[in-house]
Amino acid sequence: MGSCCQYDSTICFLENMLTAAPVSQGISKPHLDVEGGLRLSGEITVSGAKNSALVLMTAALLTQEAVNLENVPDLSDIEGMRKILTSLGVRVNRTNNSLTLKADKLFHCQPSYELVNGLRASFFCIGPLLSRLGKAQIPLPGGCRIGARPVDEHIKGLKALGALVNVEHGVVSAAMRGTNQRLKGNYLLLDCPSVGATETVLMAAVLAEGKTVIDNAAQEPEVQDLAQLLNTMGARIVGAGTKTISIEGVEKLHGCNYRVIPDRIEAGTFLVAAAITRSKLKVSPVVPEHLSAVLQKLKDTGCKLEIHNESITISPESIHAVDITTQPFPGFPTDLQAPFMALLCTAKGTSVVTEKVYENRMQHVAELQRMGAAIRIQGNTALIEGVPQLSAAPVVGSDLRAAAAMVLAGLAAKGTTRIEGLNHLDRGYEALEKKLNNVGTHIIRRAN
Ligand code: UD1
Repeated sequence: MGSCCQYDSTICFLENMLTAAPVSQGISKPHLDVEGGLRLSGEITVSGAKNSALVLMTAALLTQEAVNLENVPDLSDIEGMRKILTSLGVRVNRTNNSLTLKADKLFHCQPSYELVNGLRASFFCIGPLLSRLGKAQIPLPGGCRIGARPVDEHIKGLKALGALVNVEHGVVSAAMRGTNQRLKGNYLLLDCPSVGATETVLMAAVLAEGKTVIDNAAQEPEVQDLAQLLNTMGARIVGAGTKTISIEGVEKLHGCNYRVIPDRIEAGTFLVAAAITRSKLKVSPVVPEHLSAVLQKLKDTGCKLEIHNESITISPESIHAVDITTQPFPGFPTDLQAPFMALLCTAKGTSVVTEKVYENRMQHVAELQRMGAAIRIQGNTALIEGVPQLSAAPVVGSDLRAAAAMVLAGLAAKGTTRIEGLNHLDRGYEALEKKLNNVGTHIIRRAN
């Protein structure tokens, strides 16, 4: 997967310097103060999956009727998507953790660059807009700290369904060919099992004429969640969750009520929070099969797990080193690589962590080293020698999961760790410090 992309190490080095600068220069920024050394206990609640909710919101563009999504987390990324959809004409209402989206009067097929910039998931609008309005113009979401993140596979998929697609001046323009009102089903083999590309093609194919088959499709639970929502809206999709997905196009979709799956990455983060503080904790709701690779690695470290239908109770004792290689689902998720590395910094022995999905997802290493971790890095592989005790230091979370890793390391460190980069953290963890404080931590958010 990582080989799909190019890596510009100079840009990433400069980004690191810019990110790290405020702490070293003493300029105050919003941050968390995390007190280390406290034990957790009790039960912690997992919110709805951010990555599912984002794509399910765009699926509402496919019908004029209201789509009601339950269990939508309150996060800055969700708010960003709400703004994008509203700018296209969708009416979006939030009541507690439910979102109702009604796309009966779409008046725009091009969200602005200002709204799209920084929210990669905005690209998901392209398939539904193309099907509903016959055209879509989406500014390229651009790269990010963890890698270049191209959209070539999304574009290849839309072209396979008969769309005309152009990339010019930083905007991807897609349109129906000639007088065609609908896309045409086709066979498509993805070069890499991209989650986003699979989701884009799914949403474009549900209203196409005839049958589409996606081979080498992503099998992630979020893809299954999208297919299930679309089927509830009247689509005919089989095989989601396997490498081959078949879609029989239908003429129209309708509204529905749908509940978003629990966030497997947030659940995994909480399991690691328990492991790193050597605390017993119950995490729920979860779908244990969504976390199989993570649960296996936790067992390999020596943690005891009680797995029920919707909850997991973890009882860590001493933590042993394990090796990890990130892979597309059902492999170990790249989004838990940084959090798990924080745990391995405190394990007995030497662990090897290899990142295979993104080409630049090791930026948390430098910050963990500031906290006393013994890590050597070579390309996308980190060699981690467990240390008996991490020590608090001012650190910066350079992306969403790196920021979570800093919180976890802070929970295990001696002293109070100051963590900047909350804009990243708030993209993907709903009320993180409140949830953790409810089970025994002492984390304070400070405005500066
Ligand atoms: C989604 C998740 C993200 C997670 C990732 C992998 C959302 C909103 N985000 O991102 O949290 O880390 O899955 O599990 O759901 N690639 C290409 N060309 C493409 C598309 C992807 O080369 O057209 C490459 C990417 O650069 C990357 C790899 O494929 O190296 C995986 O990307 P992909 O599975 O598409 O991730 P996202 O859908 O962007």
